[in-house]
Amino acid sequence: MLCVETVKAADLSLLGREESTDRLRRALAELGTGRGGCVVVEGSAGIGKTKFLEHVADQAQRQGVRVQRGRATELDSSLPLAALCGMFRTAGATGVGPLFRVRRDREPHDLVEEVVARIADWAGGRPALVAVDDAHWVDEVTAHVLRAVIRDTRSRPVLWVLTRCPVGGAVPAKAMLDLIVREGAELLVLPPLSRAVVRRMCAQLLRAEPDEAVLMMAERCGGSPYLLEKLLTAALKAEVVRVEGGRAFMVEFALPGDFVDAVERYLEPLSERARRILTVASVLNRPFTLHEVAKLSGCGIPGSLPVVKEVIDASVLAGDGARLAFRHELVREALYEGLPAALRAALHREAAGLGRSEGVSPVESIEHLIRSGQAEAEALGVLLRQAVEETADHDPVPRDRAFAPGRPAEPVRGAVPGSGRVPAARAPVEASRPQPSNDVSAELLATKAQNLVRLYEFAAGEQLAPTADGTGERMTRAAQLCTRAALADVARGRGRLDLSLVLAREAVQLAERIGRESLAHHPRLQFCRTATALDLFDEARAVAEQGRRVASAIGGAWSHPQYHLVLAELHLAAGRLDDARSTAEAGLATSADRRAPQAVMPLLALLARLALRCDAPETAADLLHEADRVAARQGEHGYELAFARAEYWAALDRAVDGFEAVEAMYPSLVAWPLPLVQEPLVAMRLLDLARRARRPEEAWSVVTAVKAVAARNPRSRSLNGVAAHVDALHRGDTAALRQAVHLLRDTPRPLVLAAALEDLALAERDDGRHEPAARLLAEAEELHRHAASARDRERVAALRRGLAGPPAGGTADTTAWDSLTPSELRVVRFVAQGLTNREVAQRLSVSRHTVDSHLRHTFTKLGVGNRVELTRAFLAREGAIPNGAVTSH
Ligand SMILES: Nc1ncnc2c1ncn2[C@@H]1O[C@H](COP(=O)(O)OP(=O)(O)O)[C@@H](O)[C@H]1O
Ligand SMILES: [Mg+2]
Repeated sequence: MLCVETVKAADLSLLGREESTDRLRRALAELGTGRGGCVVVEGSAGIGKTKFLEHVADQAQRQGVRVQRGRATELDSSLPLAALCGMFRTAGATGVGPLFRVRRDREPHDLVEEVVARIADWAGGRPALVAVDDAHWVDEVTAHVLRAVIRDTRSRPVLWVLTRCPVGGAVPAKAMLDLIVREGAELLVLPPLSRAVVRRMCAQLLRAEPDEAVLMMAERCGGSPYLLEKLLTAALKAEVVRVEGGRAFMVEFALPGDFVDAVERYLEPLSERARRILTVASVLNRPFTLHEVAKLSGCGIPGSLPVVKEVIDASVLAGDGARLAFRHELVREALYEGLPAALRAALHREAAGLGRSEGVSPVESIEHLIRSGQAEAEALGVLLRQAVEETADHDPVPRDRAFAPGRPAEPVRGAVPGSGRVPAARAPVEASRPQPSNDVSAELLATKAQNLVRLYEFAAGEQLAPTADGTGERMTRAAQLCTRAALADVARGRGRLDLSLVLAREAVQLAERIGRESLAHHPRLQFCRTATALDLFDEARAVAEQGRRVASAIGGAWSHPQYHLVLAELHLAAGRLDDARSTAEAGLATSADRRAPQAVMPLLALLARLALRCDAPETAADLLHEADRVAARQGEHGYELAFARAEYWAALDRAVDGFEAVEAMYPSLVAWPLPLVQEPLVAMRLLDLARRARRPEEAWSVVTAVKAVAARNPRSRSLNGVAAHVDALHRGDTAALRQAVHLLRDTPRPLVLAAALEDLALAERDDGRHEPAARLLAEAEELHRHAASARDRERVAALRRGLAGPPAGGTADTTAWDSLTPSELRVVRFVAQGLTNREVAQRLSVSRHTVDSHLRHTFTKLGVGNRVELTRAFLAREGAIPNGAVTSH
């Protein structure tokens, strides 16, 4: 059961803004020299002007500076002096009360003089700060007064800090503020929060460490603290984000309704026409031209110009040469979500009508038509043809091929070796395009990132994926989904399964939303693999079946056999070996039909492993041979093949050869546990081989890696069971092994459970408990019978028979072994692995003295003179155990 803490967003202190605070601190320090001044703090709505001003005022107060705070509001703008009176009506921090009451019937000049005099009185020669929030709303008279007093107080220790928004506000106030700046006030523009500060803000608001998916969503607020606060609060409330054990993670990618409302409020200060233009633009979902919005909104170019200026000033849109784009992608999404369905459809219809004359791609027009619900067959047909031609013209890497995970695009492969990988891997992207647009680069970069991950160039891939993300700051959905898919690959490689699942799901949804099925295959396959790894078999199967149907209906040659592959893997995980075999064979047939070689190597590797489990080592050898040839042709050797080969050697009891087949996998396991998450049996085999090949460091790395992955994925029972299993084996702890079996009983993986039962049975046997050992073996045997893994069943049956009667051909030597106590036997096992006495003592949590004494007794009982002889004797005895138990004892 998930334990979900109920969370409410926390209140925040001022985050970031170090530079701005420093500037204000310097200005405050100036007061000490008797000089005042003015700072105008400028920033769009919600950027944090009020927060900053409050912070500065509090700071000043703490330093003993007298502080007067005031703010102007929209209502003040039309009433002479309203702002000024309002400002000073607020009690000062010193509790002075109303600073003064000015008489409104005075001549403006007298009035200014009076205000100047009163402020001078109030400050009384001591440092003072007057903070005026939202000064863009002050009325005309107040504006004049402000200008005059600011000029006057320059020679007194009074610092004025005014905040203003570049849009909205009263015209005279704006003009006067410009003038004040021109006359020497310092202008301080608050920038959007940096990524690092956004991360801190998330952590504080959620009171938990946000995972990458949460951060990614947060970053789409474009560094606006207002939007971020609203988004996270709404996300917690709607349980789109959950907090569990000090970590915050995404449950789904959906905009919470409260956030959509908050965005509406955020845009409220804008004029109605500005809001209309934004709404229209939200449908376009890409950078757009003034001409396009002018046409769509019906305002025409002259009508649109001032409005567009308004939204740029308000930092809602950003101008980038000839194009405009939303500064915060989430604002666009919220606007789009908030549109009534009928209006949305109508706008899509209009957008589709923009057509070729505006340089709109046919793919995009198709999308709009589909969304407008008016996709007439004929119009679609024409557009589709155009789209295909266009893609053929411009795309040197046909997408299906580029995305075939088994087949990295050639240029990337060339770019991988050597240093400076990222720029090198990027070069062909630029070179391959006459005019690379952001989103196209992002798409290609994302593809390359995926390929790098696939090539086990994890670090380079991880570096590249966010590069792609950044390149496509305002990218199309297609580019977005590609980067999501790349990040999902990286997350899976890192063993962050929940994140990977969410990203893959989002990528699939994006592909479906924009109607580009060909782009859905890769993330869908990712989803299946990750869901399988998380034991979500039903979901994995449903998605794979759906993908297979789509692939066979509309093509996507590479993907079709890949669906067979993931389904076969799923059958294997669920212990249905016959189904796994027939599905894998169907996959091979499909690959041949479609001339799609990408899945062939992993399919052959899988079939080889299935053959080994069914006692057909010759068949396995043939399949591996074939897989080798395919891999050589493709120039790629995935871990699937290495692992199948290791299984093969292990089955022949050639542990050292088996170890060598996978030796390259060990060093990266802790950082990149991909092979372990995909299949728990991999962890067991890797540990087994490392131990049998007497490589304690590698054995340790498997245990550490699995434990780390299990900790990262608390909801995966299989991973946690396997982690407990390998850890118990490594420590030689029978009680812990029992616990691991207990955990694994709760998973849908019979073969993993059977392996654990077998290991536990061997441990019980070695500890002299034959009866429970026999019971465990009987259970394992039954599981293997059910799964149709004949070879495993036979091995287990032989073990069980060995328990029933006296050991066959019992010799004096065997009797000597039988005389060892369980503790002595445990020590022997570790010594035979090459551990020193001190290491053995650590593992068993006993003193070195105890280990020494166990060893001495053992030497006497077995009649051996030293460790080498002991090891040899032990291994000779081990040889009597039937081959291929998952872990040797
Ligand atoms: N630097 C910051 N650190 C933490 N929270 C902030 C920061 N800046 C703004 N906020 C929060 O964001 C929201 C909007 O800030 P506010 O100061 O009201 O913006 P503005 O006055 O520019 O419209 C507020 O809830 C505020 O607490
Ligand atoms: Mg404010």
